[in-house]
Amino acid sequence: MSGNSPNLTSGGGEGRTCPVNHNGNGNSNGNGNGIVAEEGYTNNYKADRQAPSQDCLYTTSNGVPMPHPYEVQRVGPNGPLLLQDFHLIDLLSHFDRERIPERVVHAKGSGAHGKFVCTDDLNDLCLAAMFKKGTECPVTVRFSTVGGETGTSDSARDPRGFSVKFKTPEGNFDWVANNTPVFFLRDPAKFPHFIHTQKRDPETHLTGADDSTNFWDYLSQNPESVHQVMILMGDRHLHGYYGHTLKLVNKDGSWVYAQFHLLSDQGIKTLTNEEAAKKSPDYGQADLFNAIKRGEFPSWTLKVQTMTPKEAEKLWEEQKINVFDLTHTWPQKQFPLRKIGVLTLDTNAKNYFAEIEQVAFNPSHMPPGIEPSADPVLQSRLFSYPDAHRHRIGANYQQLPVNAPVCPYKMGNFQRDGQMAFFNQGSRSNYLSSIDPIQFRERSVNLNDVHGGGFLSNACTFLSTIYPEDFNQPRVLWEKVFDDAARDRFIETVSTHMSTCREPEIIKRQIGIFREVSDDLATRLEKATGIKGYDGISNLLFNGSHNGMYKGGVAPANKMKDADSMVFSNGVPGDKSQPGDRPVAKL
Ligand code: HEM
Repeated sequence: MSGNSPNLTSGGGEGRTCPVNHNGNGNSNGNGNGIVAEEGYTNNYKADRQAPSQDCLYTTSNGVPMPHPYEVQRVGPNGPLLLQDFHLIDLLSHFDRERIPERVVHAKGSGAHGKFVCTDDLNDLCLAAMFKKGTECPVTVRFSTVGGETGTSDSARDPRGFSVKFKTPEGNFDWVANNTPVFFLRDPAKFPHFIHTQKRDPETHLTGADDSTNFWDYLSQNPESVHQVMILMGDRHLHGYYGHTLKLVNKDGSWVYAQFHLLSDQGIKTLTNEEAAKKSPDYGQADLFNAIKRGEFPSWTLKVQTMTPKEAEKLWEEQKINVFDLTHTWPQKQFPLRKIGVLTLDTNAKNYFAEIEQVAFNPSHMPPGIEPSADPVLQSRLFSYPDAHRHRIGANYQQLPVNAPVCPYKMGNFQRDGQMAFFNQGSRSNYLSSIDPIQFRERSVNLNDVHGGGFLSNACTFLSTIYPEDFNQPRVLWEKVFDDAARDRFIETVSTHMSTCREPEIIKRQIGIFREVSDDLATRLEKATGIKGYDGISNLLFNGSHNGMYKGGVAPANKMKDADSMVFSNGVPGDKSQPGDRPVAKL
């Protein structure tokens, strides 16, 4: 046994002596040669995670020591195998079940552990314990690409997922964020469709790497995606943006809207398409793992923009920016970034599967003081992630060490049983008992104040509409944020990507959408692709979005017939839109 091995000899004399020797030279009699395992040693996560191979004895899964892993039992030296050979069946049947489903999106990823330290108090705006100056919480972070499968390249032209599990003193706060402040859509039901355009084609089984037709087909039918497309095809970043508007709630029940940003302290590096093509598929994994191993710990500064409900209404009235619309950002000059703290990654996973593959991030994990806004994409995601985790990992996924909260109180509730119920709450009551009562804490957030008011309304169907304001921020990106070289790279990247699109009509439509951003952009793309695009979108009908820029009135998506009963609004704070507010085009 190595000198620095974990303490296998129990303190307090409660250990059991295992009558076996693990190094094969002599018997074990408790005189120092054998293993003395603490009760429950194999079920102790921390001890198991640290134990070196030299301290472990080879056994079957039920703990029976075996002399060699390759031996099998058979009927004589040339006969069939024996069903009684539990060792072999144990080995093969576990191997047969080694895989859990990969994430349906963001399947390829890398991660690490670290800590968040609150350096600047935010408790004047938010009662969350993690925003009290000096609070530290452990974090696990996972970076990912979106569309590809687990084996695909880290350098693909794709947004980067940036997920963080903050283990705060009052429960976990999960970010399931990206490196882009906006997203492709603002209607949640579009998500599976959009993602399918990047998955393997049902017939050819090819991905977008060989055929980009479906990808551009979707984008050219859903023009609100243009802002994100421009960020995606531009230079790459590794900041993290929560993206959705949240609500920060104060002790007195008042609240503000908030946008969180994690800004890279490493600066920003970017790879051109050519550079990316030469990198190993695991470029990102190697970079993160090796940097942490070298002691170069990457860090990000957590900042927040905040806005009062009144300011949000004014922002819409005066600048047509909707805080519930994930395709828009908040202007930083008007809503400056305020520092809260620093997140540092300083510990690599010892076991990728246990600590990164099984980590389960969920936007509905919010501690007291942080609440969701009415952004419909966020609202849908509150459902989708825990649903996915129960499928991918199992009903008790929160019990896994990487997911389990670290709270200064003993957690209890009435959830019981299900597969792999490891911590099943002993003999404590499994209902709200008056005989064996559990403790309760007083309400810290009054939901009536935070989410009440103004929501009483008739039910309505909701699908967003394209309006001129949707092109304002993409235009600033093209004209003011990109420099000449970035504009050149953008045209090169987009035209190369479009070169595998089989339908010229799709490119013509997409260039029409880009023309609403900038005529210069559209003209340069026409030159690069050799395809003349449409003049804009005033003559285009979309199958995915209502077109509020169609000549003569709003053109409903997919030419739906019942436009008179539709509300052509994108759902801003204080929205009072009614059917018939907007003229409808005669189609
Ligand atoms: C309606 C819209 C969306 C739906 C239904 C959706 C659904 C999902 C699902 C089912 C997963 C797999 C989760 C798992 O198995 O662990 C996932 C992963 C992920 N999603 Fe979304 N998503 C949506 C939009 C977004 C947006 C807007 C962002 C970023 C702002 C985002 C960022 C991520 C990230 C980073 C992951 C990977 C999490 C990890 O590292 O484990 N998603 N999404």
